[in-house]
Amino acid sequence: MSIHLDNLWMPFTANKQFKAAPRLLVSAKDMHYTSHDGRQILDGTAGLWCVNAGHRREPIAQAMKDMIDTLDFAPTFQMGHPKVFEAATKLAQMTPEGMDKVFFTNSGSEAVDSALKMVLTYHRARGEAQRTKFIGRERGYHGVGFGGISVGGIGGNRKHFSANLMPGVDHLPHTLNYEHAAFSRGEPEWGAHLADNLENLLALHDASTIAAVIVEPLAGSTGVIVPPRGYLKRLREICDQHGLLLIFDEVITGFGRLGTPFAAQYFNVTPDIMTLAKGLNNAAVPMGAVVARNEIYDAVVNAAPEQAIEFFHGYTYSGHPLAAAAACATLDLYQSEGLFTRAADLSAHFENEIHALRANPLVKDIRNLGLVGGVELHSRSGAVGARAYEAFLHCYQNGVLVRYTGDILAFSPPLIVSEAQITEIFAAVKQALDSLT
Ligand SMILES: Cc1ncc(COP(=O)(O)O)c(C=O)c1O
Repeated sequence: MSIHLDNLWMPFTANKQFKAAPRLLVSAKDMHYTSHDGRQILDGTAGLWCVNAGHRREPIAQAMKDMIDTLDFAPTFQMGHPKVFEAATKLAQMTPEGMDKVFFTNSGSEAVDSALKMVLTYHRARGEAQRTKFIGRERGYHGVGFGGISVGGIGGNRKHFSANLMPGVDHLPHTLNYEHAAFSRGEPEWGAHLADNLENLLALHDASTIAAVIVEPLAGSTGVIVPPRGYLKRLREICDQHGLLLIFDEVITGFGRLGTPFAAQYFNVTPDIMTLAKGLNNAAVPMGAVVARNEIYDAVVNAAPEQAIEFFHGYTYSGHPLAAAAACATLDLYQSEGLFTRAADLSAHFENEIHALRANPLVKDIRNLGLVGGVELHSRSGAVGARAYEAFLHCYQNGVLVRYTGDILAFSPPLIVSEAQITEIFAAVKQALDSLT
């Protein structure tokens, strides 16, 4: 390969391992990437859980081209441009009722940190400035900002920074349980009571000091942990009883992944705030968002004097014209192609295919919901992660892109995937698993 690889410090990558045997993706269309060695790679992961409408879709590309030829940049601090308002309106039409206020960011990490700051601003505006603590959950992934890794619960993402994490954070236990819920199809029947641990944390810290609870409705990056049936409803009830806000981090579950626009609608539990990114504009250009209940916006905005900035927060590129144009076209495409219900239509086939992998003795657990799934492997002694990495490589060499984290393989194909392509993905995985020792 003639490309020089030395200068790029790659994110979340084993740089030495990768540069010794690079895998470059040079183009993409619909369900496929083209690799640098000219092969078609079926995308079983929607890029990085983000290209929900499939790759390089024409209406999105055209909207972006049009914007490039019209407006390169316009500030959204004390100024505005039409597309950013249009994007907020289109998004608000899809979110749960009463959640109509949209704050744009450039990533999921920024959305999470923005949401935490929004919560603190809201409580202060209502005269409850003592509510400063946050409750996250073990194994939660909320991006890589200091706020996000503080409320997050993935040890590897925290350990080098542990002395500098945000104070005033505690964590719920995660909900993965092999004894009672292994190989559950969809939502595990066991485990709703784990939400009651929130009561213990409220007793420990005193509920009046807690600002909010933040969870991924379905935990994705940690390796797909599906919430036990009734768990999220119970969390909502406890938050309501004690005046806590509930944040759903829907960076992965948003935009049709579970067969509804957002997980909030799938589980019929409405949070106070949602954090979004990825599928928001089909990952065509960086963009994230925080969506808040109207009361939160009203409380913050009405508490400030006329002419005063109400929320001291924002990014130069919040609602960048190019990102906003891509979002408008993407949200239209989701609607016109009915993509938000595709996951519901395909989930039975996806579930059957993924659970057929159980036959392999190396498989420890399988978890799935909508068009997201995880296959956890027994770790090889002394080499955690080696098996999943080998399976990932095998699939890639055979033309299928999957994702791995630790010894878990994760699947989240674009919502335009066909039944035959789902079969193809899991056939490649079966072959890969059969090749492992
Ligand atoms: C639930 C969740 N929150 C936040 C993030 C961070 O998003 P970003 O990588 O865009 O900062 C991710 C990324 O995978 C995520 O899955």
